[in-house]
Amino acid sequence: MAEAVFSKLETTPGSAAMKLAVTAASGQLGRAVIDHLKTAHPIEDIIGIARTPAKAADLGVEIRQGSYGDRDAFATALEGVDAVLLISGNDAPEKRIEQHRAVIDGARAAGVRRFVYTSVQGPEQGGGFANIVCSNRQTETDIRQSGLDWAIGRNGIYIEPDIEYIDSYRRLGGIRNCAGDGRCAYTSRPELAFAYACLLRDGAHDGKTYNLSGTPISQSDLVGLMNGVLGTEMTYDYVDAQSFREDRIVEIGEFYGTVVAGIYEAIASGAFDNESHFLAATGREHVSWPEFFSKIHAT
Ligand SMILES: NC(=O)c1ccc[n+]([C@@H]2O[C@H](COP(=O)([O-])OP(=O)(O)OC[C@H]3O[C@@H](n4cnc5c(N)ncnc54)[C@H](OP(=O)(O)O)[C@@H]3O)[C@@H](O)[C@H]2O)c1
Repeated sequence: MAEAVFSKLETTPGSAAMKLAVTAASGQLGRAVIDHLKTAHPIEDIIGIARTPAKAADLGVEIRQGSYGDRDAFATALEGVDAVLLISGNDAPEKRIEQHRAVIDGARAAGVRRFVYTSVQGPEQGGGFANIVCSNRQTETDIRQSGLDWAIGRNGIYIEPDIEYIDSYRRLGGIRNCAGDGRCAYTSRPELAFAYACLLRDGAHDGKTYNLSGTPISQSDLVGLMNGVLGTEMTYDYVDAQSFREDRIVEIGEFYGTVVAGIYEAIASGAFDNESHFLAATGREHVSWPEFFSKIHAT
């Protein structure tokens, strides 16, 4: 399993008095952002917002209740807050748009100044992932038109699911999908957490939209990185898009199967072969993939 790549946030006098809130505090990314904030910001000025507060009670910061879609709950949860990070929900795309609008409206009602959002990279048309990308783009538009100060990150694809699949890949002899030679801008939750903590605390990023990801790599590169640390001889094998989609739907159901196949189709089309703005967002480079994979232990 990969170890977190940890960067310490700088303590800046300007942000010390700000009250910062992070939604989805019970989730993996929300938790990681709050852990970063705790290294550099007064604990009493950090607020986690969770749909089910008990699930975030161990974080050691004030937890308030907020379910996406509940504008009044967010107007209350964001009272006294200067800057909020909205972590994208995971309901159906059309439902997300309204849910996120309620959070934006709640923030405006509460007098929040800065609104930061976790958007996503990817195709805006064609394939099974475009609906999700388009719903994120609509929320970006809603935020830009809200009158609030804003900063938006467009996440690369999480690398963690590939790490979690390593045992399966080893059993199967490698990775099989329809990405072909396409390169993908992957990232990791620890790297995103660091970047969002920076965007939340520093108004210098207001009005910016950043691709948050590392150097784009192909599936062959990915297998090579795994082989390098595991001492295996796995291969990457291309599967045509239709066969891959059918296989994924059998394995994980219609909705997620279509989304996952859509992601790999989009990688093949170049929609994830994007320049990273991680350095501009954080002041340092995204972790390199050889360094990231060097922390993975063979089991
Ligand atoms: N870039 C990528 O490759 C990628 C991959 C997967 C997901 N994502 C996106 O990234 C987001 C965060 O990732 P993660 O790793 O933190 O996911 P996670 O660990 O599954 O956590 C999801 C979080 O969202 C919260 N949430 C979901 N629906 C909500 C709602 N209607 N109201 C309030 N909170 C809600 C969950 O609350 P509960 O604890 O109450 O359920 C949980 O805290 C996901 O939600 C998804 O949009 C990106």
